[in-house]
Amino acid sequence: MILFTRSALRASAAAKLQNAVELIRPQLSSVEALIREQARAFDPAIEDYVAYACGTNGKRLRPVLALLAGAATGPLDSGHVNLAVIIELIHLATLVHDDIMDGAEIRRSQPTTSAKWGNTLAVLLGDCLFAHALKLATRFPDNEVCRRIAEAASNVCSGEIIQTQHRFDLKLTIPDYLRIIEMKTAALFAAAGELGAYVSGADPGVTLALKTYGLKLGTAYQVYDDCLDLAGTEDSAGKTLGLDLRRGKLTLPVLYLLQDASREEHQRFSDVLLGATGPETALDDLVKEVVRRGCLRRAIETAKKMVIEAQTEVQQLARSRYRVALQDVAGFLSNTVDQLAAVA
Ligand code: IPE
Ligand code: IPE
Ligand code: MG
Ligand code: MG
Repeated sequence: MILFTRSALRASAAAKLQNAVELIRPQLSSVEALIREQARAFDPAIEDYVAYACGTNGKRLRPVLALLAGAATGPLDSGHVNLAVIIELIHLATLVHDDIMDGAEIRRSQPTTSAKWGNTLAVLLGDCLFAHALKLATRFPDNEVCRRIAEAASNVCSGEIIQTQHRFDLKLTIPDYLRIIEMKTAALFAAAGELGAYVSGADPGVTLALKTYGLKLGTAYQVYDDCLDLAGTEDSAGKTLGLDLRRGKLTLPVLYLLQDASREEHQRFSDVLLGATGPETALDDLVKEVVRRGCLRRAIETAKKMVIEAQTEVQQLARSRYRVALQDVAGFLSNTVDQLAAVA
């Protein structure tokens, strides 16, 4: 007997996410207000650029994680709010740079800074955001917070560099791919979890569990995003999609396709991926093949397994509604990734 329809499950996951966010609503509102205030810290000549980048509506996933990790391990204070702002600013800086590298036109349903003002300005704007976030991090009485944020930022950029080195690299392995996405995406989720706990003064075991939670969730999130790039719609994602293969980024569903292919098929797929042969629509046909052979589905299942691993990590924390909220946020991701399965 089917007790819940797919749409009922989806609605219940969304309601849980809503409840999780409600628990930290006042602090999240302060984060929002502070992010929008940051432009004023800059020279008037560049204030408008920063205001544009900071004025966009992201999902604020990393601030939510930092605040929930903080609340699950002690009372929230202004330190957690500042941490969440810093982490979101680092994220914003990486998005500005990422959109330059990907040649993306739309981000958060608006023109990217590079589309609006060109790459030269956007590179420097991204640098300003990075530098500003690190400056804010030095305000913590304890150097450790700033050190770990700088380390995460460095990991994100290194991950993007390694990914660039492997563009169109048909020898890229699944472990290589996982290492890249751990660095470029999960490192910041991990810092949110870890530092949320650290600012609360949590013991090292709990701090590590929240770091690992962030790492697993962040990795699952990038796998989801990579599936979205192949199977999502730009209107609902609010950003340019379909860029990964065009830029030579081999993501998990495509790596599964290559792994399962016969020698002849491998050659045929490689030619398409390298843009060496075939018509304009060859990449679209390859994506259809990814779906038809169940490789998108497999990637979705992989992401869902990572989410379960993340949920297992937080079981070590003391029981609280915030611990439940951390699990619900992960559950929501699992549900969201599953929605892509409709095409798979
Ligand atoms: C986009 O991150 C970049 C990835 C790591 C996939 P988000 O999907 O969290 O983007 P915003 O902040 O909501 O715009
Ligand atoms: C995530 O990769 C980039 C960062 C970690 C900054 P993507 O290139 O897939 O992110 P989107 O799809 O542009 O948001
Ligand atoms: Mg991108
Ligand atoms: Mg993407």
